[in-house]
Amino acid sequence: MAESAETSLFPPPEEFSQQARVKSLAEYEQLYAEAERDPEGFWGRLARQQLHWFEPFQEVLRWNEPYAEWFVGGKTNVSYNCVDQHLATWRRNKAAIIWEGEPGDTRTLTYQQLHDQVCRFANGLKSLGVDSGDVVSIYMPMVPELAIAMLACARIGAVHSVIFGGFSSEAIADRNQDASAKVVITADAGWRRGQQLPLKASVDDALEKSPTVKHCVVLRRCGNEVTMREGRDHWWHDLVEQASEDCPARPQDSEDPLFILYTSGSTGKPKGIQHTTAGYNLFATQTFQWVFDHRDEDVYWCTADCGWITGHSYIVYGPLTAGATTLMYEGAPNWPDEGRFWDIVDKHKVNIFYTAPTAIRAFIKWGDEHVEKRDLSSLRMLGSVGEPINPAAWLWYHDKIGKGGCPIVDTWWQTETGGIMMSPLPGATATKPGSCTRPLPGVMPRIVDEEHNQVAAGEQGMLVITQPWPGMLRGIWGDPERYQKQYWSTVPNCYLAGDNAMCDEDGYYWIFGRLDDVLNVSGHRLSTTEIESALVSHPTVAEAAAVGRPDDLKGEAVAVFVTLSSGDPGEELAGVLRKHVRAQIGAHATPDEIRFSAALPKTRSGKIMRRLLRDIAAGKEEIAQDTSTLEDYSVLAKLRGDEE
Ligand code: WTA
Repeated sequence: MAESAETSLFPPPEEFSQQARVKSLAEYEQLYAEAERDPEGFWGRLARQQLHWFEPFQEVLRWNEPYAEWFVGGKTNVSYNCVDQHLATWRRNKAAIIWEGEPGDTRTLTYQQLHDQVCRFANGLKSLGVDSGDVVSIYMPMVPELAIAMLACARIGAVHSVIFGGFSSEAIADRNQDASAKVVITADAGWRRGQQLPLKASVDDALEKSPTVKHCVVLRRCGNEVTMREGRDHWWHDLVEQASEDCPARPQDSEDPLFILYTSGSTGKPKGIQHTTAGYNLFATQTFQWVFDHRDEDVYWCTADCGWITGHSYIVYGPLTAGATTLMYEGAPNWPDEGRFWDIVDKHKVNIFYTAPTAIRAFIKWGDEHVEKRDLSSLRMLGSVGEPINPAAWLWYHDKIGKGGCPIVDTWWQTETGGIMMSPLPGATATKPGSCTRPLPGVMPRIVDEEHNQVAAGEQGMLVITQPWPGMLRGIWGDPERYQKQYWSTVPNCYLAGDNAMCDEDGYYWIFGRLDDVLNVSGHRLSTTEIESALVSHPTVAEAAAVGRPDDLKGEAVAVFVTLSSGDPGEELAGVLRKHVRAQIGAHATPDEIRFSAALPKTRSGKIMRRLLRDIAAGKEEIAQDTSTLEDYSVLAKLRGDEE
């Protein structure tokens, strides 16, 4: 905290403020006060402005803690709001999606073209018997058809569950099973660093363990050989060829489920976070407009993958409802070289750029020459999401990418919150590197201690949200008890975010990371328990403990401590176990470091002392933790001895 960068204040550039939607701190404060005074009036007004209503809602909020219903009685459709509502305006021929594939192929879809494709694919899904309320898993590369598939589901009331393309077949099968998915949509493969990721092959394995799945739709992307099972597997192009372009959006109830998105919690089983129709749609759209100060002529690029919440809310649903031009890129940032992102910015004249701190740290490592060779003058503002951004990375982003003239929005939010909760407004809020600054209008955060009392300015505590908001999760798929317990039972009448945070004297929030056993590796949430269960499912492993260790690039790296029941500790077995975790969860969960140990440090009641392992993994010489409950001191000595 002593770094001077953290205390410097970067006011919004004057020219930016003059043209912004929210032009000053006073305007922000006025909005905030309005939302605080009359949340229902505030959100009701915005919902009527932003969304199309087939039938008006009768009540803005019905709050029966922890269950919220927003815009009760109203009927709308998210696909209609994203696409159809623009067709009667000049935006009909505006680019909705500009896409670039990793090999360099590009496609642009206007709102009209997007509409036609969404309708045809929605009809294709209907022809497979997909109906309102059915769950459809989507496991695809970052191609326009991924967005089309999401919008097609929304159009007919099907509930999508997008599974990030890096997950293994085991993980796909688990998710299909948990959600009782009826259909899986995939592609033959996707491009990543010049290689073809064989998506259909992973789905084939998953479908052996997915009894609920009756059909699989396959997009031809790479042209690689795939096996198609008669009666079950269908080519995307065959399905849409026969389908009509006429598929009216089905009026959905405000609270009908829109999607499930699995995320890691503090147990081994991923949680299916549930979002519904109207509240989510409004929140994603409204926050997109506030935070990115979007204007119609902008090209907006969020570098996330649609497999994560950022892709849902800020590649697809928020930008399209707002009538924006959203750019999608299929591949890696370092292919064919480390300047690829800046080539894309230059080529498509990107104005708003939204990425993750882990990417920024990689660019710093790769060297400024990649940036300096490209023309980035189209950029007018920058964003960051997924993990705390360290001030050094913030300053590099500001100087090298923004050339000192672009406001940066550091956006704090979660899969559960549906949209951005805290962030600067680029024309209104002076920023401090490393702080997500202040809550958006309608968001009521508080920092509390173990006794649930609000802590003083400058003190750390648990971050909670004290009032419901339209984008909040509505539950965990099939597990209401876990929803209640996880989010609503720790601090009375408050949503528990699970982050450790502080609010300073100026009312600026600082997020320090998770309070639970969730790691944030390159902006991806991973549960330590999930990694541990993957490890102990291997026959040689008796016991395992996974912890996070600070990492310059990834934020956190995965370190695991393993005790064996058989086999020889050493590099060979470590390699086998790494591969095993990759096969159980996915490449992003692969342990960075495996340490074999004869025993793990435990409390007298048998709980593994993770905090101690964290210190050891971080290479701390002195163990600052209280070790008075440690059952066997010699374990600690051995573990530290192993280190040498
Ligand atoms: C962390 C991603 C600091 C945080 C949208 C949160 C952040 C978790 C920030 C949610 C930020 C996200 N500053 N920390 N700007 N944004 N986080 O569900 O720990 O993948 O709880 O949602 O990421 O991760 P999730």
